[in-house]
Formats: sequence, C-alpha cells, structure tokens
Amino acid sequence: MSLPPHGGVLVNRFKPEVSIQNNLKEIQLDLISLSDLELIGNGAYSPLTGFLGKDDYEQVVSKMRLKNGTVWSIPITLPVSEQIARQLKLGEEVKLTWENDVYALLTIKDIYTPDKLIEAQSVYGTTDLNHPGVAKMYSRGDVYIGGEVTVIKQINRAQFAEYYLTPIQTREQFASLNWKKIVGFQTRNPVHRAHEYIQKSALEIVDGLFLNPLVGETKSDDIPADVRMKSYKVLLQNYYPTNRVFLAVFPAAMRYAGPREAVFHSIVRKNYGCTHFIVGRDHAGVGNYYGTYDAQKIFSQFSHEELGITLLFFENSFYCSKCENMASTKTCPHSSENHITLSGTKVREMLKNGEIPPSAFSRKEVVEILIEGMREPQSSSVE
Ligand code: ADX
Repeated sequence: MSLPPHGGVLVNRFKPEVSIQNNLKEIQLDLISLSDLELIGNGAYSPLTGFLGKDDYEQVVSKMRLKNGTVWSIPITLPVSEQIARQLKLGEEVKLTWENDVYALLTIKDIYTPDKLIEAQSVYGTTDLNHPGVAKMYSRGDVYIGGEVTVIKQINRAQFAEYYLTPIQTREQFASLNWKKIVGFQTRNPVHRAHEYIQKSALEIVDGLFLNPLVGETKSDDIPADVRMKSYKVLLQNYYPTNRVFLAVFPAAMRYAGPREAVFHSIVRKNYGCTHFIVGRDHAGVGNYYGTYDAQKIFSQFSHEELGITLLFFENSFYCSKCENMASTKTCPHSSENHITLSGTKVREMLKNGEIPPSAFSRKEVVEILIEGMREPQSSSVE
C-alpha cells in the first residue's frame, strides 16, 4: 500500500465542469500563484484546498503548522494590490485569471495585510532584499486573499508537456512499476556528479528514484528549465538504469527558503507518492544565508509520524582525485586539496567564458547540453 498523502486525503480541486457567471470580479494571477493554483488543484499541496486564510497563514509563518496542527512550512498565499483588495468583499466569488483566461474560482474567506517583515524573517531567516525569495515576496501585492479554489482550466504546457503529472498519475505509475520504496529528488540545477552520487547511493536501498526537477519560476541566473530537461534526459539515457528512474517536473516556483523549503519539498513529494526524500547540503539555499546542514537540522522539530516521509540526509559530496571516486568526508580520508567541488555559480561562469567544467564535476553529455543552451534564446513554459 502506498504512503497516505499529507493530511490523509489527496485533494482534488479540479472541476472543469463548473461554469462561471459573467459578472464575477477578477484577480489576475502572477506566475507564482498560477503554479501554486495548479498544485493546489491537483493535490500536490494536500491538504491545502485553497490559498491560506489569515489563521493558517499566521500559524505557518510562526510555527510551521496549519491551524489544525498539520506541518506546513511555506505560506501559499494569493497577494493582490491594495487597490484590488479594496474592491473585494468577504464571501464573494471571484475568478482567477492569467493572460485573459479564467483558471479558477475562489470564494473569499479572508482579506488580510501580512507583516512582510515577520514573514521574511520567519520563512527566509532574513529581511535582506538581496535574498531572491525575500525580494520576490516584497515585489508582490501587499494584501493577501485567502479562500478555497475550484480549478476549472488546466494550464496549457507548451514545453515537455508529457512530464507534467498529477500526484494521482505518479502514484499510479509507481504502483504499476511495483515500487514500494520511492526516493524523491528535488533539483533546480542540471544533475552534476554530486547529485548523481547521492541519487545512486539512495537507489542502492530503495526501489526507484523519482527525479522531480522544479520548473516553476527561478531566479534569472539559474539554468533555464528547458535546458535542464535536455540534460536530465541525456544523463538518464547514458548513466542510469531507466527502469528504476521516473522523471516528472515540479511546476512550483523556487522560494530559496532553504530549511523551510526543504520541509515543504519533502511534504509535496510525499503527496506525489514518495516514501523517501533526499536532502543534501544547503538544500534550496542561496548565497550564504543558510548553514550547510540547516535544511537537515530543521527536520528534528517534527516527529516521523507527522511528516510521514523518511528523510535521507547526505553530506557535501565531491570527487576525490586520490580515491578516484565520488565521496564525502564520511567516506574519504584525503585532504581537501584532492577534492573537486564546483558551485553552480562557478559552473555558469565557466560556461559563459567558454570554459568546460571538468568531467569530475559534470558528465560530458551534460556539459555539451549546457554549452548549447547558453547559445540559444530562452523560451517560456506557459502558453
Ligand atoms: S536545490 O535548490 O534544488 O536544493 P540543487 O539542485 O543544487 O538545489 O540540489 C538538489 C539536491 O542535491 C538538494 O537536496 C541538495 O542539498 C543536494 N546537493 C546539491 N549539491 C550537493 C553536494 N555537492 N553534496 C551533497 N548534496 C548536494
């Protein structure tokens, strides 16, 4: 039997048969709330059935829990401007739109003004506007609208459409593959040798790997999702047992909230049907805002029962030229001058300057795709 979703029931708010009345007021979504809407609708954010109301929001920000006590670490909110908020009334139904198409209906339960300073400090651990997640939060509307949603239209995905699966579909896939233990892997980067090492270490003890790259909004200097998707496919073809890996995308936006986002990422992967989840070094981190293992330490605040998913923590991994192998300080006795570790930022710099990252850092097939990707114009993932 597969692991129950978070909160016990897989939410389904997708009801395409529901019709819209003509006279409804409109809230225009941004790309973040559009992807959040999709993930509420298909149950990836179970037990959420809508955008957070005030009570849930305050508990999530201060305690990493919904008001009923269920663990939830990232506020999923619907921000609007004060001007829009003034036109809305409690209890009224509004339509949620993106580029003139109506995607959902929302019944307004709450209209509230968050304290963004508190949100920044609690969720991101900093109020620094140089933090991309904090900057993004401040750039969005100053009033939040809470309420349940009914999704009536699916997003038309132009790119890699076959990799957008709902939790119902991924759970069906895992069952048909007869996988009992499934490890989820979150990434916003190409899969480099360190990622491969920790994925394959995990694969030694589970039945299958759910490679679930995040393809929602990321900061502008992250490698675009279409280039990454090409790199995942070529890597899987050449270096992975394809019958033990399942690739599907995670449409959410990246928050760069480090520890809090690691908790969120693990819960969502549980909803997709994973029994295990990998957290390595500085998961969902950015710059030097978080300690290397903060995203692992945060899990000590929750019991195994309330999270329900088993975490697999990995040390910082690197290639050791003396071991002639991937390793971490847990497995390698040699000093750091033998270790090849490159950051994503460093790799992007090298690629920009026409330099080729060493094969000890990234497989040559992946590097070729990244170099090609630097030359191509970028395209959007939503039509
Ligand atoms: S993330 O923002 O999506 O976490 P990234 O794609 O770099 O970024 O990381 C994916 C996962 O691999 C995360 O769990 C991260 O902690 C882990 N990870 C990345 N690089 C390393 C490394 N060198 N050693 C150990 N774990 C790593």
